[in-house]
Amino acid sequence: MRPLGNVTVTAPAKAILVGEHFVVAGCPAIALALDIRAKATAELLNEDVIEIVSKEFGIRRYGGKETRVEDPLYPVYLVVKEVLKLAGSNQGLKVVIESNIPPAAGLGSSAAVAVATASAVAKLLGLNASLEEITRTAYTGEVEIHKKPSGIDNTVSAYGGAIYFSIGKGFERLDVNFSQVRLVLADSGIQRSTGTLVARVLALKSKHSSVLDQVYAAATVLVENTRDALEREDFTAVGELMNINHGLLSAIGVSNAKLEELIYTARQAGALGAKITGAGGGGMILALCWREDAEQIAMELSKASTKVLMTSVSEKGVTLESG
Ligand code: PMV
Repeated sequence: MRPLGNVTVTAPAKAILVGEHFVVAGCPAIALALDIRAKATAELLNEDVIEIVSKEFGIRRYGGKETRVEDPLYPVYLVVKEVLKLAGSNQGLKVVIESNIPPAAGLGSSAAVAVATASAVAKLLGLNASLEEITRTAYTGEVEIHKKPSGIDNTVSAYGGAIYFSIGKGFERLDVNFSQVRLVLADSGIQRSTGTLVARVLALKSKHSSVLDQVYAAATVLVENTRDALEREDFTAVGELMNINHGLLSAIGVSNAKLEELIYTARQAGALGAKITGAGGGGMILALCWREDAEQIAMELSKASTKVLMTSVSEKGVTLESG
């Protein structure tokens, strides 16, 4: 087995600022790319096999004819296959995944891996894929993991910055200077499945539609107002709207005592706003802070959480690092 060259690409994690869950039913949402990245290195192989290597999950070799396999690396293989299809190739290759993004915590780790993989393999094959093609290809892996994802994770990971998104209507990249603020994330330590939570929320929505339709309508207005506040760089208003958004997420049943504890800790320590980010039920909370307050807020949160991350919005989406 002789490697013939390699390409390394990174892609950012994401945090949903406002609109998660509501986005699944067609409301808009805003997501931010974070300065925490996943890396994929793709190499040509001179044998007819697709090898996926991850420090966390080990090595898998796929022969190209697999039917569905229950394995965390299988979605990465599907993304590789999709790029090969786009290139009209059946080249054997290897992809090595390294990620600093905590998995299953609402930060879009699988999407960042999928985006980095799609882009690295496309470049390796000499395919001049557009960001739109990379986003669409990465979505194949997301469907395998999350069943019916909105597509927000792979979009923000590919494009970077702040993304205003709605299903079927596409997305816009917002022009915002985030240099005055920091994001602090704190892990509840509770594992959860996005697919299960989305299904549970949709069931509650159809059971109590006359009540929840109004919550969904409020979420739509809230996202529009957050967009306006971001464009004015009025982060005080953004924080207030995040807090209101968290109330709406509690209303649809995705908060719990541990998440509330972290959210109130962040707010009491001076965060501009704090809320669940992503599917809820566990995973991480997101606090928006003035740059100079972030460290103190992170310190308070670390008393109640085993993992606290302090980060910024990444203007960079998927990025070629070498090759
Ligand atoms: O927690 P995450 O990163 O899997 O995000 C889920 C976001 C939802 O809006 C709940 C689902 C989706 O596909 O947008």
